[in-house]
Amino acid sequence: MQETKPTVKRSYTTCGELNAGNIGEQVTLKGWVNRRRDHGGLIFLDMRDRYGITQVVINPENARDAHAVAEGVRGEYVLAVTGKVGERPEGTENPNMATGEIELVVSDIEVLNPSKTPPFYVNQESDVDESLRLTYRYLDLRQPRMQRNLRLRHRAIKIIRDYLDDRDFLEIETPIMVKSTPEGARDYIVPSRVFPGDVYALPQSPQQLKQLLMVSGTDRYYQIARCFRDEDLRADRQPEFTQLDLEMSFVDREDVLDLTEGLFVKMFSELAEKPLKDSTFPRLSYQESLLKYGTDKPDTRFGLEISDVSEIVASSEFGVFANTVKSGGVVRGFSVPGKGDIPRSQVDALTSAAQGFGAKGLVWIGLEEGENGLSARSPIAKFLSDDEVNNLATATGASAGDLMLFVADKEAPTAEVLGRLRNHVAHEYELIDEGSHAFCWILDFPLFEWDEDGNRWDAAHHPFTSPMDEDVQFLDSDPARVRAKSYDLVLDGFELGSGSIRIHDRDIQNRMFGLLGYSDEQVEERFGHLLRAFEYGAPPHGGIAPGIDRTVMLLAGEHNIREVIAFPKNQSGQDLLMGAPSPIDETQLQELHLQLDLPPEEDHEDE
Ligand code: AMO
Ligand code: AMP
Repeated sequence: MQETKPTVKRSYTTCGELNAGNIGEQVTLKGWVNRRRDHGGLIFLDMRDRYGITQVVINPENARDAHAVAEGVRGEYVLAVTGKVGERPEGTENPNMATGEIELVVSDIEVLNPSKTPPFYVNQESDVDESLRLTYRYLDLRQPRMQRNLRLRHRAIKIIRDYLDDRDFLEIETPIMVKSTPEGARDYIVPSRVFPGDVYALPQSPQQLKQLLMVSGTDRYYQIARCFRDEDLRADRQPEFTQLDLEMSFVDREDVLDLTEGLFVKMFSELAEKPLKDSTFPRLSYQESLLKYGTDKPDTRFGLEISDVSEIVASSEFGVFANTVKSGGVVRGFSVPGKGDIPRSQVDALTSAAQGFGAKGLVWIGLEEGENGLSARSPIAKFLSDDEVNNLATATGASAGDLMLFVADKEAPTAEVLGRLRNHVAHEYELIDEGSHAFCWILDFPLFEWDEDGNRWDAAHHPFTSPMDEDVQFLDSDPARVRAKSYDLVLDGFELGSGSIRIHDRDIQNRMFGLLGYSDEQVEERFGHLLRAFEYGAPPHGGIAPGIDRTVMLLAGEHNIREVIAFPKNQSGQDLLMGAPSPIDETQLQELHLQLDLPPEEDHEDE
């Protein structure tokens, strides 16, 4: 992917722009030495910059001084090389390079800066320890793959800005030092010097501020917003990350879905290397998603859809099934096409995998053509009637030659185990269509989720999410039944974004806080500012916040968001390049009126 803009004016030439049309021109090229080859007489340098690579040749016969300089040049030196663009000798052209028809025949070389030998190869893809890459991130970023990722991120954000600008959105910055905004993670806090003992919190998202902007009449807001959350890190999580945060007034769910879908279709059609499986994103209710995929972020690039077979096996002779159903549990499973005769070792491996995901066991049934329809090859075959086998096959869409897998347990663990097993099987047997991207919307989430430990209701999204109109009546009597006007955007098994239509009615907001167990004082202390604002004419409003890091990660085909962030934290939340976090010094502690109470050395996370 070349990036040359003929309209950009420079006093020198970049390493990606020369071609046969420039033959005969005298130019000065600036960049880094990607590779140096000494052919005894001729020295070849591959000069690299963000725009590409250009071959440079130094002939001692007509550039004696330049040749002497080139002899001392090493990889990653920064040079200005001046010469004439020449045609490459026949047979040495490189059709894979944009500059592959030409070479620069050098008359003069100036070393702008030498370089130490880098701690890893910058000029080739090699398996480098990530800590080393992050410590020397500026070298790591010189690699074409990383440059491509930075460029992709820039382009994605540019498309976002243009798309939203065309639709009347204003880009507005909100503060980084704010008051705690609960999104479910721990806050990063900044102690105040002026108000001893008081702290600012870094925003987990600009949620409250964007709602206040709606009260202010801004109508349509967006921000490429930095968010901060102190939570356990994973491949798709960073302690600071970026959202496309947006909010709109006078809208319902449909408007937000429509706008977002349009944006992502545009972005992916312009930037993705793979086509979208569906250009209209399929919609699933939360319940449906949990049933069919065992998760609220399904990877819909493959089938293996889960079915509930509780009714079929309710009075089975296989005790585990019958007893599970009798005690209020479920039996669910899915079929794997063409895997009915996999060897015992493979089914055992699947069973171990399922157990690793929390299953008590895994029933597997290989289907064969039998006398009365299908017959089963399974450790529990003797307990299964012909009817049962055939009904299970119908329910899971299986036929002769396929493998069926079933789990029996309470509903939630069954869904979770099968969801993870479904992904595992798809990876194991390469059933994922890696040639496309599959978006979907998950709708109708529950408004609350039960917190076992705290013995109370939690907001499933956040406390400003509106209940569905038809479910408001159950707010007090049956909170579990209340669905939210919230939605998640899911791509290839990743949650890309969440949003909701908000509560703009003070009474419902108060009831919500009550249900979440906040006392009046807590409500006033945490949300007083928002509730007061809602008394001054808050328009109905709603929005969404897709994660930019995750979006670009998937666009780039990377498996970790660190690959699409210029200066990410490592898995322990450390910045290895600058060395953060770092100890606070005594003067700062005093100024902030703080005292340290450190855990014993061995428990200290940084040690
Ligand atoms: P939510 O908390 O679901 O919603 O976050 C929205 C999206 O932000 C991204 N994201 C992250 N990306 C990287 N690292 C993290 N630690 C991380 N946490 C979240 C995900 C996620 O889908 N204010 C609401 C949005 C709204 O209601 O408008 C919010 O923040 O892609
Ligand atoms: P057992 O009766 O424990 O010997 O189990 C017989 C078969 O049923 C084994 O293949 C187990 O893996 C499987 N099994 C046991 N419990 C469950 C369960 N809760 N769900 C699915 N399969 C199970």
